[in-house]
Amino acid sequence: MRLAVLVSGSGTNLQAVLDATEAAGAAGASFEVVVVGADRDGTRGVGRAQERGIPTFVCRVPDHDSRADWDADLTRLVAAHEPDLVVSAGFMKVLGPVFLEAFRVVNTHPALLPSFPGAHGVRDALAHGVVVTGCTCHWVDAGVDTGPIIDQRAVRVAPGDDEGSLHERIKEQERAMLVEVLTSLARDRSWR
Ligand code: GAR
Repeated sequence: MRLAVLVSGSGTNLQAVLDATEAAGAAGASFEVVVVGADRDGTRGVGRAQERGIPTFVCRVPDHDSRADWDADLTRLVAAHEPDLVVSAGFMKVLGPVFLEAFRVVNTHPALLPSFPGAHGVRDALAHGVVVTGCTCHWVDAGVDTGPIIDQRAVRVAPGDDEGSLHERIKEQERAMLVEVLTSLARDRSWR
């Protein structure tokens, strides 16, 4: 299964996917990352891909005349690598209609959807005072974090947690969840 991975930041979810490719292949669920794209310059995620010799690109909204132009350009850049699946792993942009028509996309989100969608899932959950939050892997549709849920993991909020400490514990679960989801999607291709 050829994966295109989209990132905006540190790329620890991407790293987990990269680290899992060999083990998954040995277990009969073969996937590989064929390209990593970012919506901004200088992300650690793109650096992680470059260290492995994986092709990368940056496609920034402000370099385009319109959001539609960005959507078309992003689609073209990803399509050149012929992925079977796109993984939005900390990609902080809403994907456009042309992109979503072209690819099946899974996203990972740091909250138990449908609660706390959007860019600040951890902060919003903490502000609400929840005792349990977590992460969700879901198919991407035209909405913001609204697509069909594939898997979720729960994480308890600890006394004294702030956004950073809680997010780190969520991300531990998130990385494992994402690898498991991709392993299962690589094994059973009925979703294609
Ligand atoms: C992850 O927690 C991911 O769920 C979140 O950004 C983090 C990226 O971490 N995405 C969103 O909040 C999207 N709404 P990473 O760059 O270390 O993989």
